[in-house]
Amino acid sequence: MNMINKQPSIECVWPAEAILGESPYWCSEEQMLYWVDIDGKTVMSFDPATGARKTYPQIYEVGNIVKRTDGGFIAAMESGLTLLDDNLSNIEIFDKPEEKLPNNRFNDGKCDRRGRFWAGSLDRGEVLPAGSLYCVGSDNNVSKVLSELVIPNGMGWSLDNKTMYFTDSGKCTIYAFDFDLQTAKIENRREFIVVDPEHGVPDGLCVDAKGFVWSAHWGGSCVTRYDPDGKVERVVAMPVPLVTSLAFGGAKLDQLFITSARYGMSDTELAEAPLSGGLFVFEPGVLGLPDVPYNQGA
Ligand code: BGC
Ligand code: CA
Repeated sequence: MNMINKQPSIECVWPAEAILGESPYWCSEEQMLYWVDIDGKTVMSFDPATGARKTYPQIYEVGNIVKRTDGGFIAAMESGLTLLDDNLSNIEIFDKPEEKLPNNRFNDGKCDRRGRFWAGSLDRGEVLPAGSLYCVGSDNNVSKVLSELVIPNGMGWSLDNKTMYFTDSGKCTIYAFDFDLQTAKIENRREFIVVDPEHGVPDGLCVDAKGFVWSAHWGGSCVTRYDPDGKVERVVAMPVPLVTSLAFGGAKLDQLFITSARYGMSDTELAEAPLSGGLFVFEPGVLGLPDVPYNQGA
């Protein structure tokens, strides 16, 4: 991996001490950043214009959160695919594809540019290849797209929508697939990036306005930006080891929000990295793309 170049100043905008902070989602409509604490069973919102913070406790582990075009939110929680209202309450579980796998829970989720919602599940032991990737399309129809996954994680799509990136942290790998935006079919899986475990494992990802891929390093205290050929463009050091995910936001989509965790860290490790579980932001000098809300008609 390349040397760290041009280290920007990184601000912790919310030292939330999340156990497993994850899945930042920028809502352009509200100009609001949403993120979750999976193990802390909480959704949080942060308004970068005012600094206002809100927490929305949930009764389930919440893997991710995404807005819906018709109002409210969609989330993959524990074993269920769920709709929530504007206040992040009134949960309606519309499918439980993992019901027969009680040790499984949902993890990362995101929408493609047609507004279909993709979410992965994992076995909580994070060793068995018992996870799957699901795609939720029109009228909340759920299809299983991949199985035998260890830790399905960050996903994103190339600017021309012909490639889907998909991370299996259990394999330390970000895969690329040929992607058909019309049909949601993915095929021709190949390795896009294999991370040396010395640099942690790849976790959440997002694609910027130049089509470069940003990936968070769980256990690697950094985020990396790769060009579309998989070459490292830069590595940005973070003040915490468990860097989980990232999303562009702000009025100009020029801010990169980064989530982190404190899951499993010892007291000594926490004393060395007390901001673990916080929400961070920096300006990388490149613009992002708007996150896509879930479109039930897609
Ligand atoms: C998961 C964690 C996992 C980590 C690293 C996160 O997305 O929620 O449970 O340990 O990725 O693979
Ligand atoms: Ca993740």
